Amino acid sequence: MLTPLRSTLIVMLLAFAGTAPFSGQEATQNPTTPQSQPGDPWWKHAVIYEVYPRSFRDSNGDGVGDMNGITSRLDYLKDLGIDAIWITPMYPSPQIDFGYDIANYEAFDPQYGTMADFDRLVSEAKKRNIRVIMDYVANHTSDQNAWFQESRSSRANPKRDWYIWRDGKGRGKPPNNWQSWFGHSAWTFDEKTGQWYYHYFYVQQPDLNWRNPEVRKAMYDVLRFWLDHGAAGFRIDAISRLFEDPNLHDDPILPGKNAFGDPNIQHKYTDDLPEVHDVLREMRSLVDRYPGDPVLISEADEPTIQDLDKMYGPNNDEIQLPMDFKVADLNKLSAPEFRRLLDEIEFNPLEGQPYFFFNNHDQARTWDRYGDGVHNEQIAKLMAALLLTTHATPQMYYGEEIGMRTTVPTRIEDVKDPVGRTGWPKDKGRDGERTPMQWDKSPNAGFSTAPKTWLPVPPSAAQYNVAAEQYDPNSIFNFYKHVIALRHEISALRDGSYVAVNRDDPNVLAYLRKAKNGTDPVLVALNMSAQPETVNFTLKGFGVDGKSLHVLLAAPQPANSELSLTGVKLEPFGVLIAAVE
Ligand code: GLC
Repeated sequence: MLTPLRSTLIVMLLAFAGTAPFSGQEATQNPTTPQSQPGDPWWKHAVIYEVYPRSFRDSNGDGVGDMNGITSRLDYLKDLGIDAIWITPMYPSPQIDFGYDIANYEAFDPQYGTMADFDRLVSEAKKRNIRVIMDYVANHTSDQNAWFQESRSSRANPKRDWYIWRDGKGRGKPPNNWQSWFGHSAWTFDEKTGQWYYHYFYVQQPDLNWRNPEVRKAMYDVLRFWLDHGAAGFRIDAISRLFEDPNLHDDPILPGKNAFGDPNIQHKYTDDLPEVHDVLREMRSLVDRYPGDPVLISEADEPTIQDLDKMYGPNNDEIQLPMDFKVADLNKLSAPEFRRLLDEIEFNPLEGQPYFFFNNHDQARTWDRYGDGVHNEQIAKLMAALLLTTHATPQMYYGEEIGMRTTVPTRIEDVKDPVGRTGWPKDKGRDGERTPMQWDKSPNAGFSTAPKTWLPVPPSAAQYNVAAEQYDPNSIFNFYKHVIALRHEISALRDGSYVAVNRDDPNVLAYLRKAKNGTDPVLVALNMSAQPETVNFTLKGFGVDGKSLHVLLAAPQPANSELSLTGVKLEPFGVLIAAVE
């Protein structure tokens, strides 16, 4: 009889032979869809995929992606093995910060579609077992939001206190030295009422006053609105910035200047204030009242592991999946440092579920941060294996599965991101990681039929695109697809324990995953160096009796799929995922 792991391998090989193209085909029944796990909420086993809607697929030929474009690619996502998508903001917005400046929380910007389009997206996604997670921008609105328009209209307006208004320190002098994340003072003077309003981000993104109970109620209503429309949860934007010191203490000044030419400050009085956690608990108790285990994912670049741990809440009653920026932004392939970071979050005292990602719409793609210019394709596979084989819930970003790279504008006139315009040339902004998805080698890489797309399609699209990679067994795409399939199929990878082995190895990050009942061990070995490595494994001390390795997936593929535990050879940046038998 075949062991479960061997039958998995065969299922995977069959699945690969029949890889379905993305266009015009019904979703193939993915043989590796996760079994439902009694007792575990879905988000512990899900592979989550971030969609940047402007750049995913344009269905109406205006050069900007939209909701119907996303719906038209659900079969592709299903085929890849995605369980949930997080879509960045599609709400009405002047698009100063491309949707992170919301003018109305309970509608859609017509350029992305209508409520009916959204209902269709959610129901089509549901048919394919894909959940839809909304972006929840809690810290600030757009200055075009009706709430802010009222607030700024007069000092006596009932919504005045919905935002943070203060007197300056004299003519032209802001209330204190707080700085915007996007450069320069965090205060802007408003002639009409003679006061300054506070904005952690851009001038057009005034901060809400979360100390005001009416604001809290209005923002909790937004959560209810989207849960009632079928949202499976929320990715909460910039959550650590919700509160500021009411006494307006100046932030400490650090040596040097930042990318915007301002003094470097430490955001001591505007970031990570303890009050944030009261709000997180309130949000959690709200979503917990809904069926289907809605999830809260936090965006917060927590400075220490202790701060990250706090996001789970003292009784696991805050965020279920806090993003781990330390892992995402290590920015070098270092086995000892990844080992340390993985341990830190894996063994958090609350046993909260770790949440890893490497790419998103705010930072250069891994191709450019982790690639060495020589082995980039191999490193892309290594990063995929790292993301998708630890115990953490993984989050992907559109295009990483085909090896998309960061394509930064070369002239300031072409920059769309406000950060790039303020920070040029030191900080060229985030356009580079937001370029259109590369579907095929037709004009605009199959993203749009428009004469001009909102951001240009990178030249690498000719080689790195879905259509080409789907049929190449050695492509980055097929590597992702296979690791995801393994993660779904094999209990040890899906929900098993994690422990690092060969802890002193300077180059090879290796870890053991075991199913919940301690059986079916899987070993993952990632050579993070540009040299070939030969590794020996002694797993007895980890309660594993097996004496040989059965290769489930490797890159490059070894000649023999049965290996001994000693003398395991790994090519430069080589990946091995193997059952210990
Ligand atoms: C978050 C978003 C980013 C946005 C900022 C302000 O960091 O990910 O894109 O610019 O918040 O909303």
